[in-house]
Amino acid sequence: MKKKTRPRPKGARRSKRSTQPAVVPVAPPAATRLPPAPPPIATSLRPAGASAAHAAIPNSPYPLRPVGPVPEDRPQEARGSNRRETLALILAAGLGKRMQSRWSKLLHPVAGRPVVRHVVEATRGAGVARTVVVIGNQAEEVRRAVGDHDKRIAFAFQKEQLGTGHAVLSAERMMHGHDGDVLILNGDLPALRPETLVAFVDYHRAHAAPLSLLTTVLADPRGYGRVIRNYGGDVSRIVEDSDASADERATQEINCGIYCADSRSLFRPLRQATRNNAQGEIYLTDLIEILRKEGRKVAAYRHPEAGEVLGVNDRRELAEAGRSLYRRKAETLMRSGVTLIDPDTTYIDMQATVGRDSIIEPGVMILGDSHLGDDVRVGLGSRLVDTTIGDGTEILAYCVIGSSKVGRGCRIGPFSHLRPESALDDEAHVGNFVETKKTRLGRGSKANHLSYLGDAEIGRDANIGAGTITCNYDGVAKHRTIIEDEVFIGSDTQLVAPVRVRRGAFVGAGSTITKDVPAHALAISRVRQENKEGWAKKHGPLAKRDGHK
Ligand code: UD1
Ligand code: CA
Repeated sequence: MKKKTRPRPKGARRSKRSTQPAVVPVAPPAATRLPPAPPPIATSLRPAGASAAHAAIPNSPYPLRPVGPVPEDRPQEARGSNRRETLALILAAGLGKRMQSRWSKLLHPVAGRPVVRHVVEATRGAGVARTVVVIGNQAEEVRRAVGDHDKRIAFAFQKEQLGTGHAVLSAERMMHGHDGDVLILNGDLPALRPETLVAFVDYHRAHAAPLSLLTTVLADPRGYGRVIRNYGGDVSRIVEDSDASADERATQEINCGIYCADSRSLFRPLRQATRNNAQGEIYLTDLIEILRKEGRKVAAYRHPEAGEVLGVNDRRELAEAGRSLYRRKAETLMRSGVTLIDPDTTYIDMQATVGRDSIIEPGVMILGDSHLGDDVRVGLGSRLVDTTIGDGTEILAYCVIGSSKVGRGCRIGPFSHLRPESALDDEAHVGNFVETKKTRLGRGSKANHLSYLGDAEIGRDANIGAGTITCNYDGVAKHRTIIEDEVFIGSDTQLVAPVRVRRGAFVGAGSTITKDVPAHALAISRVRQENKEGWAKKHGPLAKRDGHK
């Protein structure tokens, strides 16, 4: 039996010890340089209409507004077109104790992506030229969750997690030479939308403040940093839940962990922050008081939709974030012409796509890189992962399909299980209690009942009878079964692989096929039937009952 391993977040590698996970140190900051900004979206947070960043997030329609004027009161430095460039800094080095997990909370999947990846996608969707991610806890895993193939993303390493302010300071060397705005984001904001970031940065620019923060109002603000305003209504400081007085705790406006700072008003003042607080950490939020003391005004943008800007700290909040992302996806799909019978019980991952006039019944999950064509129907309780479905295919209730390709006009289910690398050509049928794995079913072929088809290549217009089994495993290795075009396999047939049934052959029901079958032949291997006249009358149960004992 295979040893059971505990579930772990997608993309995460197992560490040796559960308490202090093995962190593979990443290259120190000195070794890394900010990657060059690619030309098309380098100059502004707002890219031109059809930028690559826009295309990367098909479900986040980008507001196509003209680039606004640079506020007059900002000093204009002659440093070329990069001057007003906005850089994103994502804080992702913490562990997140309240998740009660072996894994950093940023690795936990929600609506098909690790938490931190949603934040990266939001900055990408907002057209940010470059993004620096601060990593530390489970650095390698977090780096992989972010995706390290994108040239616009760089990583800074925070060796010890001494707080959010310390995390920002750990990225200072990476930011060297950048003198535009820095959009700072906690890494635990999976529901954040690119449009919100665009609006927030616009707000920051319009106010020309050294620092702007994004806030929201909560009925139950427990756990979050509270935004304390003075009599004039200006933000005077942020106080963490653990440092707050009873009065301060009653404040319902919270800090969301989304900031925009002029880089020149960021690092130098932040170095004055101390660890003089309940958690003994360097708080990024101390920056507000420090700037205020220097006589500078901090701007605050109050976001009306709290659900979008709440950090995920525990499993309950993770589920809530999932719910709002799935709901958002459902709405996008309905707007594009997909019928969801019950959007509240339909779970479609962010990167999945569904074509027009498709109908999705309740309780369906369409996960990962799944792509459904037009006029597809997915029945109640089905689960599709990394699967492509062609136009007009109907999937009846309770099917499980993973890493497979299904053509057009197919019919699947109810209760079918298509395991990885199954491929159905157009108009193929797979019915109840049929399991396939690494198997191709040619055009118009049918396997309608109770079969196991593994490591098989089946041609077109073949009929696979009920109860057919490919015996693909000999205890050591897997072998292939090849069934050519227009073959008829009678019910309850075992095909002992490796074996080939050639074109147009016919296999009698109940056969065990161990040798190749020639084209157009009949293969039959069951024991010949014998009828014994009168036997039951003498020896059957009725005979016993009637006194012939
Ligand atoms: C922080 C804010 C709080 C705000 C809340 C919103 C501070 C001091 N407090 O609190 O005002 O209401 O977010 O959710 O900033 N991180 C690092 N390195 C560290 C510590 C944290 O990279 O040393 C990262 C974490 O991985 C996480 C983010 O920073 O992505 C926020 O950390 P978290 O511990 O969740 O902050 P909160 O205590 O919730
Ligand atoms: Ca938090």
